[in-house]
Amino acid sequence: MSLLSKLFGKAPARTVEIESSGDRFEVGSGATILERALAEGIAYPHDCTVGTCGSCRSRLISGKVEAITPFGYTLSREELDAGYILACQALPRSDLVLDVEIGGSASEEIIRQPAAFTGASELTHDIKRVALKVDKPIHYKAGQYANIHWGDGAIHRSYSFADAPAPGGTLEPGFFVRHVPGGQFTDRLFGGTLASETLEIDGPHGNFWLREGKGPILCIAGGSGLAPLLSLLQDAANRRVRRDCILLFGGRGARDLYAAEAIAAIRSGWTASFDYWPILSEEQNPQYRHGFVTAYVAQALERLGPGAQGYMCGPPPMIDAGIHALSEAGIGLPDIHYDKFTDASTGA
Ligand SMILES: Cc1cc2nc3c(=O)[nH]c(=O)nc-3n(C[C@H](O)[C@H](O)[C@H](O)COP(=O)(O)OP(=O)(O)OC[C@H]3O[C@@H](n4cnc5c(N)ncnc54)[C@H](O)[C@@H]3O)c2cc1C
Ligand code: FES
Repeated sequence: MSLLSKLFGKAPARTVEIESSGDRFEVGSGATILERALAEGIAYPHDCTVGTCGSCRSRLISGKVEAITPFGYTLSREELDAGYILACQALPRSDLVLDVEIGGSASEEIIRQPAAFTGASELTHDIKRVALKVDKPIHYKAGQYANIHWGDGAIHRSYSFADAPAPGGTLEPGFFVRHVPGGQFTDRLFGGTLASETLEIDGPHGNFWLREGKGPILCIAGGSGLAPLLSLLQDAANRRVRRDCILLFGGRGARDLYAAEAIAAIRSGWTASFDYWPILSEEQNPQYRHGFVTAYVAQALERLGPGAQGYMCGPPPMIDAGIHALSEAGIGLPDIHYDKFTDASTGA
């Protein structure tokens, strides 16, 4: 550190190295790892840039960082213990070496464009399927999400594509949206006023998609978290991916279960074994397993055998419990992929 830096407290630039890609860049005082990586043209995974989505999750192999907002609002205990940080909230305090998957989501072009609301149909008492129409085809990977803007376009909410991507891009994206009472977007949808709003959509975003591999796949969904998993599984079935799979879906009662036809279609096109376990946490019903969905992780993994990858979407507490259960059952964090459906109340 120079004498001036010492006297005036200005931290020196630090070197950040991404182990997998070999990228190296300098991060000066006050800048985050993500800001500098993007300025260098590195396709660093990210979305919200404010520490809530977890897209920029990276493992610190060596070095020290300071968190602008505590990583623990978004990352689980297991991730923190394994040295994961959020690049958008991290200020380097020494030279760093990081482990992060570079480049995946950025390969698809992100487009912001007007979207027409073409209808909503009921899936359960509190989940609707929302259909939009756009002019420019959206090229997303199965599992990714879009941001929907309304009003003057200043705020948006994120929703996962519910269908397998169409060849040539998707012009009529569909989403499963759960009503969050008091929520700005979902009150408009369930109150019937969304049709009168001017909508825009931008995407695709996120790094939730099926990774390469030969081992089995364990999927865990809660509520509208089924959307990206149906997209991912339907796409895998279309591509004749030959891997054993169990889909765990959690609801409070039988009235929360839905998409039986879509799941049956995936099962009939699946080229290896495919099981669907609906699990009810509140209602006792002899037709279904009972308890929290994450309580069945160990049993499902035992059935699937070694080398599994875990894929989860749904409310933050379910994801945290899922990371814990998968880790306990011996699945390493690099093989656990998820999208946490955070909302304005998360971390409040
Ligand atoms: C990557 C990603 C993908 C997602 N995909 C889906 C999906 O496919 N389907 C889906 O249904 N959802 C999804 N979500 C969640 C979705 O983006 C919205 O957050 C959700 O629909 C709620 O939006 P809203 O505008 O109705 O509620 P919000 O306006 O965000 O409010 C949510 C709740 O927080 C309360 N609240 C507002 N402000 C505060 C505050 N300051 N403190 C405490 N409480 C507050 C509100 O009263 C309400 O109860 C996803 C989220 C992420 C991050
Ligand atoms: S981009 Fe860092 S948490 Fe969303």
